Amino acid sequence: MTRKLSGKLVIATHNSGKLREMRELMAPYGVECISAGELGLPEPEETGDTFIANALIKARAAAHAAKLPALADDSGLCVEALGGAPGIYSARWAGDSKDFAGAMGRVESELQAFGARAPEQRRAWFISALALVWPDGHEQVVEGRVDGVIVPPRGTKGFGYDPQFLPDGHDRTFGEMASEEKHGFPADGSRALSHRARAFQDLALICLRA
Ligand code: IMP
Repeated sequence: MTRKLSGKLVIATHNSGKLREMRELMAPYGVECISAGELGLPEPEETGDTFIANALIKARAAAHAAKLPALADDSGLCVEALGGAPGIYSARWAGDSKDFAGAMGRVESELQAFGARAPEQRRAWFISALALVWPDGHEQVVEGRVDGVIVPPRGTKGFGYDPQFLPDGHDRTFGEMASEEKHGFPADGSRALSHRARAFQDLALICLRA
């Protein structure tokens, strides 16, 4: 059974880049959003072995602690030639100091170690798993994906691995796109661009009122 969201929502993230994007994506639906950080909720350990499992861990913990519906995103960059790495370890590759220049450098040097120079050897995709959990235990999960290639980092917008990701059909990296372009909602309502916006489109159809 599906359920529509109403009232206040906790956005269960401590990642400021994700929080900004999730607030932007939630804005049209008139849902009042408060972040886990603002509520002083602890960050649970992400012990799952899939994006969906980790999104559920975060959303369940926040819904339980705040006694409000909670939305969590677990996301990451998967590089085909690296067997899908960094994948669910995307944040960890940047370390405690959140050094994404270092994490992008590691992706590039591991690709170089495979001699991957041609675009078809540098295929990658971003995944965003969204889990919306109500305090009574009702749960909804969706997953969005965007495909592209790894390129030398360009641009200072966005966050994380954005400067290194060139989405298929575009000539600017996510790091060179303003957030509206990265979300990429077409006026005719067809497919959005970013993994997170695509997951939101699916979640909106199921749980949000336009
Ligand atoms: P987690 O979901 O909190 O475990 O962390 C996901 C990590 O994946 C982030 O810290 C970023 O490094 C990366 N990531 C997820 N989504 C994006 C995105 O839209 N752009 C760039 N990097 C992202």
